[in-house]
Amino acid sequence: MTLQILPFQLTLSHMRSLKDHATLSNGVNMPWLGLGVYLIPDGPPIVDVIHHAIDAGYRSIDTASFYQNEAGVGQAVNTCGLAREELFVTTKVWNDDLRQARTLDAFEESLDRMQLDYVDLYLVHWPVPGKFVAAWKALEEIYERGRAKAIGVSNFTVQHLEVLQQNSEMIPMVNQVEFHPYLIQPRLKAFCAQKNIQLEAWSPLMQGRAMNVPTIQQVAEKYGKTPAQIVLRWDLQHGVVTIPKSAQPARIIENATIFDFELSEEDMVVLDGLDCGQRVGPDPEDFVF
Ligand SMILES: NC(=O)c1ccc[n+]([C@@H]2O[C@H](COP(=O)([O-])OP(=O)(O)OC[C@H]3O[C@@H](n4cnc5c(N)ncnc54)[C@H](OP(=O)(O)O)[C@@H]3O)[C@@H](O)[C@H]2O)c1
Repeated sequence: MTLQILPFQLTLSHMRSLKDHATLSNGVNMPWLGLGVYLIPDGPPIVDVIHHAIDAGYRSIDTASFYQNEAGVGQAVNTCGLAREELFVTTKVWNDDLRQARTLDAFEESLDRMQLDYVDLYLVHWPVPGKFVAAWKALEEIYERGRAKAIGVSNFTVQHLEVLQQNSEMIPMVNQVEFHPYLIQPRLKAFCAQKNIQLEAWSPLMQGRAMNVPTIQQVAEKYGKTPAQIVLRWDLQHGVVTIPKSAQPARIIENATIFDFELSEEDMVVLDGLDCGQRVGPDPEDFVF
């Protein structure tokens, strides 16, 4: 299947700075680049990391109740000196809460931990079989009440999205999935584009392994960039929102310095050629829920 790459003029005019954003199907603006915070410890470590990222220009933070650092995320947001509406905060409802049919309560607990009045994006973390439709209906309610500016899903395949479509009112605004040069998932990508579901890449750096892929290293050398910057720029030119995680100040800045160059169509195709369906994380088809 041919991959859809953004028309170059659109890329040029809409991805010039860290403040640039995708526009979701309901009109909400979501920054193209955000900070993933999985495995960053709660408390002072995460507050410091997020403050550093915000100083470097980041405006979007991706957490989850499962990461056990929502309190620190909220503290960082509430003490960074920026108005709340300048930041984009994502969190997610965990599988146990889906199983126990307590998504509405779990959402309130997340807000409480973060000491926030609303989130910008609330996601169903995994498509727990037999449970995800009910959880989605709870997210619709949260959205109707204005407590989440946008709602979406994570780790949903085309099949899961079709089930949602047949059983609910709203189509998710975002699908956050594993996405990197070894795992492009062209069918899912095309389906989301067709339904106006913004694709978002988790583990965009392959949890660090992208740095050791020779083809990525060669492209990096050609542009005078690092492998991480090449992969993250490749995400943007695919129209995919990306949330690399780093707890290291220099890398946080490095990962955001991707708005001052463009990959040629030829090099996009070279990177696309690495796709081999290889995951670094669990497969939603056989995840142990
Ligand atoms: N929805 C889901 O199911 C799901 C699943 C997994 C992840 N996520 C989200 O996606 C975010 C990103 O995914 P991820 O954390 O799994 O992996 P990732 O962002 O692909 O990679 C993070 C790893 O790469 C290292 N790294 C970061 N920048 C680097 C650079 N410039 N050069 C070399 N190494 C670098 C980091 O180490 P240092 O910290 O030491 O820099 C860390 O070990 C998560 O934090 C989370 O928010 C969501």
